[in-house]
Amino acid sequence: RPGAAAWVPDTTDPDALREAAQGCQGCELYRDATQTVMGQGDPSAPLLLLGEQPGDTEDREGKPFVGPAGRVLVSALGEAGIEAREVYRTNVVKHFRWKAGRGKQRIHQSPTQAHIRACSPWLVAELAGVEPRGIVLLGGSAGKAVHGTGFRVGEARGRFEDWPVDRFPTRGGTPWVLATLHPSAVLRADDADRDELYRGLVADLTAAAARLR
Ligand code: URA
Ligand code: SF4
Repeated sequence: RPGAAAWVPDTTDPDALREAAQGCQGCELYRDATQTVMGQGDPSAPLLLLGEQPGDTEDREGKPFVGPAGRVLVSALGEAGIEAREVYRTNVVKHFRWKAGRGKQRIHQSPTQAHIRACSPWLVAELAGVEPRGIVLLGGSAGKAVHGTGFRVGEARGRFEDWPVDRFPTRGGTPWVLATLHPSAVLRADDADRDELYRGLVADLTAAAARLR
């Protein structure tokens, strides 16, 4: 399949992008998903959060980070002193990738590098219409989409760098970029590790907040 480019209109209008994205067949993920989930938030928000792909709840509701991972994220943002209106949130892949589990359960599967590449024209189009001062990469898939396949969240975490505006131009200047854990990693962790991972996410978001003030 050719990737999303043929479906992406020449506009930065979020509503027009969202509508056009509903018809995307740039990779096979559209077939088993309910709908395309594009970004949400104020295009002039100072902080952009980049996740992996919609989860089960997001696939049904059509908005990013409205399920369990979203609840962890909202809680961590609150502890870091970041308000919802300060954040634009989106994902590197716009359709939910899953495999059948028991009964009606749909089990999350990470997107491949091919899915990330196929979908990147949507991310590029969204980024062209926003002007964040900072971008936080949530987890490995977002990190790989931006920094390449060698990206390891454990090594990259907590370092502020320049956003690669050559490959992913935004409106305005050069944002900083910071990688942190994915909130789903907090949910997946053993009871013994969960609090430590959550604290790590809050610490990174607190550092991001400090950069914005
Ligand atoms: N996980 C993500 O990466 N993005 C979402 O929108 C929901 C869960
Ligand atoms: Fe298109 Fe992205 Fe969905 Fe693939 S995942 S069909 S490229 S919107």
